Amino acid sequence: MPPALTLQDELLTWGESVRRDLPWRRTRDPWGVLVSELMLQQTQVPRVVPRWQAFLDEFPTPAACAEAPVGDVLRAWRGLGYNRRAVNLHRAATAVVERHAGRLPEDLDGLLALPGVGPYTARAVLVFALERDLGLVDTNAGRFVARALAGRAVPLREAQALADAAVPAGAGWAWGQAVFDLGAAVCARRTPRCGSCPITTSCAWALAGWPAPDPVTGSGGISGVQAAFAGSDRQGRGRLVDVLRSGPVPHEPLSLAAACGWPGEPERAVRVAQGLVADGLAAVVAGELRLP
Ligand code: ADE
Repeated sequence: MPPALTLQDELLTWGESVRRDLPWRRTRDPWGVLVSELMLQQTQVPRVVPRWQAFLDEFPTPAACAEAPVGDVLRAWRGLGYNRRAVNLHRAATAVVERHAGRLPEDLDGLLALPGVGPYTARAVLVFALERDLGLVDTNAGRFVARALAGRAVPLREAQALADAAVPAGAGWAWGQAVFDLGAAVCARRTPRCGSCPITTSCAWALAGWPAPDPVTGSGGISGVQAAFAGSDRQGRGRLVDVLRSGPVPHEPLSLAAACGWPGEPERAVRVAQGLVADGLAAVVAGELRLP
């Protein structure tokens, strides 16, 4: 009998055969990968695809981004949501220029020290740009770790250790992409398609007979259910930034309320506008609220 295939062999082979041709998978430029990872953090792949190259055409390097007003970066972020990420990216680009002569650092600590770059994003840059053999744990990759590697809910530190230990030597890039493709096509949050999974014979959860609860529930690195968007402050904030992308708004309650889509709630709109200013997404200049 031939030796049994390992989980690593099975997932890598499957990954090669189904790999999605996503634009950021064609580059090894650390800046391009950082931009893709920040975009993908809270926005789905199909919405990121048309925006990633357009962003890099405008800001091809950290220096180009750092030199631009934050408002230009926020304009280029249109349609992606969670606009705070654009401000963080601008801050990270500024730090890269000031501390690293315009080149992204190539070590975990240097990347982690950049504004807005957390443990997942720092590792993702090392894996997808520099092809390092590190494990990834975010809300998508974390499902694979909890179900297939642990078979039970695991705290983040343990999930990271399991993820690191599972990476086949020399194949960190292909492995990371395969884990994301598995998470997108098979190992879904609510209804995993275990019947068509390439690693079902070595998945810890499947081998145990899929005991409840799903290991994803309560595992580290996996985000919970999002609060409702409709009617939220976040919705008004997003609308206000969208209006500011086209031009300034008079900094007075009724105009702000209209821009937020809350004509009857001027106090709430003023509060949301103050939040935007505090977070660096807007500024008040000569009685107008505008992008910085
Ligand atoms: N999410 C985060 N990084 C990704 C990648 N490289 N491919 C697909 N989805 C991702």
